[in-house]
Amino acid sequence: MAYLKPDKPEKVYVPALRTAKEKGEKLVCLTAYDYPTARIVDEAGVDIILVGDSMGNVIHGYGNTIPVTLDEICSATRAVKRGSSRALLVADMPYGSFHTGDDEAVRNALRLMKDGGAEAVKLEGGRNRVGLVKRLVDEEIPVVAHVGLTPQSVHKMGGYRVQAKTADAAKILIEDAHMLEEAGAFSIVLELVPREVAEIVTAELEISTIGIGAGSACDIQVLVLHDLIGFTFGRQPRFVRQYANVSQVITDAITNWMQDVKSGNYPNEEESYGLPKDVKLVEAKAVKK
Ligand code: KIV
Repeated sequence: MAYLKPDKPEKVYVPALRTAKEKGEKLVCLTAYDYPTARIVDEAGVDIILVGDSMGNVIHGYGNTIPVTLDEICSATRAVKRGSSRALLVADMPYGSFHTGDDEAVRNALRLMKDGGAEAVKLEGGRNRVGLVKRLVDEEIPVVAHVGLTPQSVHKMGGYRVQAKTADAAKILIEDAHMLEEAGAFSIVLELVPREVAEIVTAELEISTIGIGAGSACDIQVLVLHDLIGFTFGRQPRFVRQYANVSQVITDAITNWMQDVKSGNYPNEEESYGLPKDVKLVEAKAVKK
């Protein structure tokens, strides 16, 4: 059987995460929602690409992740799949895609894998999702769990705040993480939790923790690519370290191009096409009746 695009020899599969944890080797994960960013992220050597429902805020401008649809995630996953060949590809299960029964959730997760090309799915929730995680894993669907701040619960939580800040809340989160591991999740996102809590979860679990705003103890760090490269608007959370200002780069490029067009400097001869030398043009005269 011939494959059009063979996996790279160093392709990251699910078991690589456990191996890295055992060796104490840190991995990295970034979001991507389209082909060009997927190519850049994959070729830069990022281990995991997440087609996150953060696309709701980042590329759709919704203000939260609630409206993101399975179709949107599936289409983005297909594009990211085409642009990546090494990283493990994880697709988010958007709000509403796993809330109406396990059969429906399995169908939706399978769609992300079969149509989208995802190699795993991620879903938000603690002990309330343990049964579903087991079911998905039974159906050969690798699952990343997600606890702490779960943006799909923004209305219930009343905003985006650090979670597990009391001893009781931390105990519940740590228990949830254990239950999700037992249910078969191969990794777990810890979002916006105190670094001490993330440290305990990372030490107690055999599966890898993927931290965002959860301190440096986590086995894997994840960021939204657009935050990392300065391609977002508004105030950023304190855990975001901006490594570039892509918005400024784009603005400068557009401004320079506009100036060149208005001054007649664009396009020049090399940026346009002339007739072949042997073609003589006959001027068309206006036909007068
Ligand atoms: O949707 C997303 O991008 C995420 C990450 C921030 C973990 O869930």
